Amino acid sequence: LCAGRLLGRPAQGLTVVQRCGSCDRPHGRPRLAEAPGTGVSLAHARGWVAAAAADGPVGVDVEAVDDAEVDWRTAEAVCTGKELAALRSDTHPRRAFLRQWVRKESLVKVGAGTLDEPARLDVPVYGQEPPRWHGWRLLDWGGARAVGCVAAREEMRLRLLG
Ligand SMILES: CC(C)(COP(=O)(O)OP(=O)(O)OC[C@H]1O[C@@H](n2cnc3c(N)ncnc32)[C@H](O)[C@@H]1OP(=O)(O)O)[C@@H](O)C(=O)NCCC(=O)NCCS
Repeated sequence: LCAGRLLGRPAQGLTVVQRCGSCDRPHGRPRLAEAPGTGVSLAHARGWVAAAAADGPVGVDVEAVDDAEVDWRTAEAVCTGKELAALRSDTHPRRAFLRQWVRKESLVKVGAGTLDEPARLDVPVYGQEPPRWHGWRLLDWGGARAVGCVAAREEMRLRLLG
């Protein structure tokens, strides 16, 4: 649907193909058979789905916000010192953590980073710094119950459904 709206053509005529390159299972970064230059990205979390399409590479992520405590061991493994300081002083550290996490995962999905060393993805702190990272625009969305982010090149048109 996102890609159809972006391209101005019926979604029924577009085929999403997924091939990881390592195995025969249909999974991995999605692409469109009929429009290889158009990027598409998908995400799901408990009760939420998100999709994005853009004129080039795009990555989307969504996470459900719950009342759980922050797992600080995980946070320390995936966040920089600057991010951790922001989380510790936030009134809702769990949501603040998820805000940073969806930014990182959107960059992983767009191909700009890897999940091997997420703490190396020194993304700007949500609400404190401009949502830009090395030429990538970070479009944050969501609210009290779910948060998400889309990464795309700064100059690109994009469509999002969440
Ligand atoms: C990309 C990745 C970080 C997303 O994981 P997640 O948080 O569990 O799930 P999300 O709902 O946010 O995203 C899943 C969607 O991301 C997309 N996706 C999967 N791999 C992707 C990749 N390498 N790049 C971009 N998007 C990818 C798919 O559309 C997938 O949807 P699907 O499950 O309906 O096919 C994770 O799948 C990953 O690290 N993959 C690479 C490792 C891998 O797949 N190894 C096996 C090789 S055989």
